[in-house]
Amino acid sequence: MIDVVVERLASPADLDGVLDIEAASFNNPTTREWYDGELKRPEVCFIYVLRTPGQPVAGFCAFWRVAEQIHINNLAIRPELRGQRLGSRLLQAVIAEATRLGASHATLEVRRSNLAAIRLYEQAGFSQAGVRPNYYTKPIEDALVLVFSSCSA
Ligand SMILES: CC(C)(COP(=O)(O)OP(=O)(O)OC[C@H]1O[C@@H](n2cnc3c(N)ncnc32)[C@H](O)[C@@H]1OP(=O)(O)O)[C@@H](O)C(=O)NCCC(=O)NCCS
Repeated sequence: MIDVVVERLASPADLDGVLDIEAASFNNPTTREWYDGELKRPEVCFIYVLRTPGQPVAGFCAFWRVAEQIHINNLAIRPELRGQRLGSRLLQAVIAEATRLGASHATLEVRRSNLAAIRLYEQAGFSQAGVRPNYYTKPIEDALVLVFSSCSA
């Protein structure tokens, strides 16, 4: 199994790595300006990177913490490194970190067609709580709302 470290985004080079993965992963990537804004609110906005021996930013996860809940805004792994359980390990580390921060619930939206991500989240204990019709653009698509509760996991 690959050695990995998951830690909070720590440098401009880390942000460049996150933006590379964004561009390679999403039709509508989140912008540098959005991340710059997030980094100014470190008590609410948390960005974690997953590092491997060969890749300082192999994946990332961005979430907000509000009271006892986190909302996962984004999670992605470099395309060439997918399918090696790195996404699962990143998600587990994020849930552990959220628990450490005092959160007991997690929520997120995911495209209805994104079977890889839905499976990843379901394996981690998330379940479907609702649908937001036409939530996404480029292309327009429903979002599934997934929730995780550490009490029931
Ligand atoms: C979703 C994503 C993070 C998964 O990362 P990954 O490292 O490839 O996932 P893992 O190897 O940890 O796989 C975990 C589980 O997800 C499921 N999965 C992963 N890739 C899959 C695929 N292409 N098709 C179907 N299921 C898949 C499998 O059930 C897998 O478990 P298994 O290996 O026991 O079968 C990755 O595909 C990605 O970055 N996608 C683009 C960004 C994205 O869509 N993010 C989600 C936004 S909400």
